[in-house]
Amino acid sequence: MEDQTCELCGRPIPVDPAARTLVKCPACSALLVPAEAVRISLLVRSGDSRPREATAIELPDEFRRRYRLERVLGVGAMGTVFKAVQLSMDRLVAVKVLIRREEPRALDRFLREGQVLAALRHPNLVQVYDLDVLDGCPYLVTEYLDGGTLATRLKTRGRFEPAEAGRIVLECLAALDACHQAGFVHRDLKPENIMFAADARAKIVDFGMATILSSPRDLTQAGSVIGTPRYMAPEQILGKAVDARTDLYALGTILFEMIAGRPPFTASSVREVFQMHLFKPPPGLSELVHGVPDRLVELVERSLAKEPDQRPASAEAFGEELRRALGETVQDPRTARGPGDPGEQAVKRPAALKTPRVPRAPRAPGEGSSAARAPRPGRGLALGALLGLVAAVAATVQLARTDPGRRSGRSSGPLVRPPGQGGTSADGPAPG
Ligand SMILES: Nc1ncnc2c1ncn2[C@@H]1O[C@H](COP(=O)(O)OP(=O)(O)O)[C@@H](O)[C@H]1O
Ligand SMILES: [Mg+2]
Repeated sequence: MEDQTCELCGRPIPVDPAARTLVKCPACSALLVPAEAVRISLLVRSGDSRPREATAIELPDEFRRRYRLERVLGVGAMGTVFKAVQLSMDRLVAVKVLIRREEPRALDRFLREGQVLAALRHPNLVQVYDLDVLDGCPYLVTEYLDGGTLATRLKTRGRFEPAEAGRIVLECLAALDACHQAGFVHRDLKPENIMFAADARAKIVDFGMATILSSPRDLTQAGSVIGTPRYMAPEQILGKAVDARTDLYALGTILFEMIAGRPPFTASSVREVFQMHLFKPPPGLSELVHGVPDRLVELVERSLAKEPDQRPASAEAFGEELRRALGETVQDPRTARGPGDPGEQAVKRPAALKTPRVPRAPRAPGEGSSAARAPRPGRGLALGALLGLVAAVAATVQLARTDPGRRSGRSSGPLVRPPGQGGTSADGPAPG
């Protein structure tokens, strides 16, 4: 036994340096990685349940020469995020190890798509430094963010003033625009996936995770449903093709939640939440909170349109409208300068991605947005929605019986990963 200093509270705790399991600090409950560990547990969490051990992986010398894992930062539905030091650069990083042991072809795809993702640079996007496979489990190394998640802020301090919510959402829209143009749809935007850097800048995390782990070919293909029920757009619930506007819907629900202090649709079951997204108009923001500018109320409502055509046509268009709706109260993130900001806000995009791979929403000539002329959802959609709902709920039930760690094959039908994979709670995390 030797004393190891708790990375979080700084107290010395006795740890067998070669221990194979994570060690809990008795003072602050941080889960520490023993200094000499060559094998560690990976945890996973279902919905709001407590983390449980899902599997254990070997840490080869090669990995340990590059990274020193320190403690668990968080546990999601797909795996464990560690705080680590990248030894060659002497910098803090976050290492996210997924519990899925993938078949070789899926791992190849993960590495290929991940490289494209890692080449994206944007001040409001978490920077991916590295990705590889560890004992059969894919892992990603990203910039370490110590400002916590938007989910935690919503829980601890409740609702935001519209101007502050607007600033955060404008930053997210800037990152979304860059990623959409590079061909990625996030598909799992939720307050847990919006984090803050030390300078308070919002950063989107887990971009492309849903994509690189799910769709073999076409990023916009229909037939695979991934997301978190509270924030899922109708087309996503139905297993239809997703595009940039699917993310705009999710961000619209997040903007609603930040201003109102509650998401637009909540219910005790995933099924009910899906039904609300598909058929129910969101509650009026102005009835829930006083003093929200009319233009903002209208824009949030439009971002939550059931039909993608009725939403803002792109992240850029959403951003422009949001800036106008907020008036002069919000500083434009494109011109804002944070401490330590090199001053370059332009998106650096990999050369190979000059052509957008995700189609933008169609726009009529001379129109700022296609919303005004878009048709109302018809009976066709309602019928499709019902069928899709049945399929999605069936898939949910199916998944409740599937061990996520062993589910490496691709499903041909809709793949729903509701919170906790079990489909019983409508609020918990989804993959990534
Ligand atoms: N880059 C990062 N820097 C610091 N903490 C992170 C980072 N990425 C993720 N985390 C933490 O790890 C937790 C788990 O992340 P994740 O596995 O993506 O699940 P979820 O998004 O459902 O919370 C996050 O909630 C966050 O607290
Ligand atoms: Mg996440």
